[in-house]
Amino acid sequence: MGVNLRGRSYLKLLDFTSEEIRYLLDLSKNFKDLKRTHTPHRYLEGKNIVLLFEKTSTRTRCSFEVAGLDLGMGVTYLDPGSSQMGKKESIADTARVLGRMYDGIEYRGFSQDLVQELSDYAGVPVWNGLTDQFHPTQMLADLLTIEEKLGHLKGVNFTYMGDARNNMGNSLMVACAKMGLNFTACAPKSLWPEQWLIDECKKIAADNNCEVRLTEDVKEGTTGADVIYTDIWVSMGEPDEVWEERIKLLKPYQVNKELMANAKPEAIFMHCLPSFHDTKTTIGADIAKKFGVNEMEVTDEVFESKQSVVFDEAENRMHTIKAVVYATLC
Ligand code: CP
Ligand code: NVA
Repeated sequence: MGVNLRGRSYLKLLDFTSEEIRYLLDLSKNFKDLKRTHTPHRYLEGKNIVLLFEKTSTRTRCSFEVAGLDLGMGVTYLDPGSSQMGKKESIADTARVLGRMYDGIEYRGFSQDLVQELSDYAGVPVWNGLTDQFHPTQMLADLLTIEEKLGHLKGVNFTYMGDARNNMGNSLMVACAKMGLNFTACAPKSLWPEQWLIDECKKIAADNNCEVRLTEDVKEGTTGADVIYTDIWVSMGEPDEVWEERIKLLKPYQVNKELMANAKPEAIFMHCLPSFHDTKTTIGADIAKKFGVNEMEVTDEVFESKQSVVFDEAENRMHTIKAVVYATLC
């Protein structure tokens, strides 16, 4: 039977089959071609979507806005603090109100339970634009980028460096297991994903002829990798007090030239962004002043190198988000 995602929410990749993810990647490629050839694709004219952000964003917000506008829809953006949600109105009530006005709801915020509750009550598709636990729209952009750069997904050796139990570490482990990539989390044990998720991903990986590995050893984790991926050391919503400990824990896992040399010569470097690769941001400058660290999860040299595909990856956020919105609303 063909894939049909109409009416579905997109909350986490665990809810989707490998075939459904494949369908979304193929649809993303089609939308990318349409955009590149300036071919109009206002397929969802007359519909409206709302974007709820309880945390800040550049890529995710802009991708949903441009995707919505390209598809011919009306788009409303609500920033943290400009809606009643949570403070004066429950999630369930907010969901039922927005579901009467809009055809789809994007939510970026804190717990996965919140986005699940929105979806349970809204009566329209809800898209997870990042929670503390998962970042599923980022996954499609990452998979598409790997496929574009390496030509395939199955059998790719993918290594994630750093905080492996944040939304990115969790989501990439699921994405790799679902699509046949060998996933290695290279991180201190205290920052490994929760055991239930590791167990679940190992089961999924076994069905897809790939492996999920975890190691604290940088050499072991990076040797022969096709993709080296990292994320910031302290995620949105975490208190400033964790910086000192996190820097100590993760400095040995920084992606630098020596580390990239363990990977295959044609390996690519990926990052969901934003990234602290220099001191040209207020937080970057503040951390440099407080802890004497001028580059964090990745050195500027690697970030700016030919192996780095981070801006292609960022562009793909828009094409893939468009595919998710279209597939669930068409
Ligand atoms: N990668 C990502 O989600 O970026 P934003 O936080 O800018 O949306
Ligand atoms: N782990 C990061 C991802 C940002 C896209 C965060 O949650 O801040």
